[in-house]
Amino acid sequence: MSELLHARPKISPPERPEQLPSPARGSLSFRNVTFRYPTRPEVAALKDFTLEVEPGETVAIVGPSGAGKSTIFQLVERFYDPQAGTIRLDGVPLTKADPADIRQRIAFVPQDGVLFSANARDNLRYGRWDASDEEIWEAARAANAESFLRNLPKGLDTFLGESGTRLSGGQQQRVAIARALLRDSPILLLDEATSALDAESELLVQQALDGLMANRTTLVIAHRLATVRKADRIVVLDEGRIVEQGTHRQLTDQGGLYARLASLQFAATEAA
Ligand SMILES: Nc1ncnc2c1ncn2[C@@H]1O[C@H](COP(=O)(O)OP(=O)(O)O)[C@@H](O)[C@H]1O
Ligand SMILES: [Mg+2]
Repeated sequence: MSELLHARPKISPPERPEQLPSPARGSLSFRNVTFRYPTRPEVAALKDFTLEVEPGETVAIVGPSGAGKSTIFQLVERFYDPQAGTIRLDGVPLTKADPADIRQRIAFVPQDGVLFSANARDNLRYGRWDASDEEIWEAARAANAESFLRNLPKGLDTFLGESGTRLSGGQQQRVAIARALLRDSPILLLDEATSALDAESELLVQQALDGLMANRTTLVIAHRLATVRKADRIVVLDEGRIVEQGTHRQLTDQGGLYARLASLQFAATEAA
């Protein structure tokens, strides 16, 4: 126990952290980033990865399992530092800033497992503890989550249970979206859920996401055709490298990895 208490994280604030510009612009830059997980040094999860994301831009990341998509998110949140290259948020290298300041500017919407065993209020305001009930309802409304939350037996005081058993998958996703709306951060990291939703939930989730992504820099690990079609740019990753980049139309015409993935992955869920 004492060993644990005395452990110092490898990622810690520099002595004199550089301030991120205020107000935030929301630009994100990766230059020649190479990263190996400490427990798997023989595999480079990202190799010489370079990507400039402009403020407000939506970039969809597509690639086979193990390509390095989630690793990009891990590095943006600075859970690890790359062995080579630099990642910058609004021009400031992540290693020069206070990790708390960086994370403050990021909202992450994970694929699933988004609920804590706590009441609805705490589940929603997890990204911003000082949010008022009024602000919570406003976010819930914008996330298409208001009506089912209003119908909970004790409203926001309702306990959501171990794995959110009271809410359907689509409802849980909308809670995660409402949480991110409340947080109102300039950077959004979105790991799109793969689980199939019924058509109505799908539409409600999609609308809620459109609202969340508007006017925000978004990196989305995309599993749906609708998402990649709407993205400003699609980046195709394979074995830690960017192998293709462009719009859905350009990449489909190119007939490479994207075209192949798209015909396999998207055809299963949607009639393209
Ligand atoms: N925590 C980890 N420790 C060691 N290796 C990891 C870890 N997470 C991912 N990897 C490895 O890094 C590579 C990229 O993984 P990941 O970014 O999760 O891919 P994707 O999200 O595209 O499926 C894979 O080879 C994977 O096995
Ligand atoms: Mg992943």
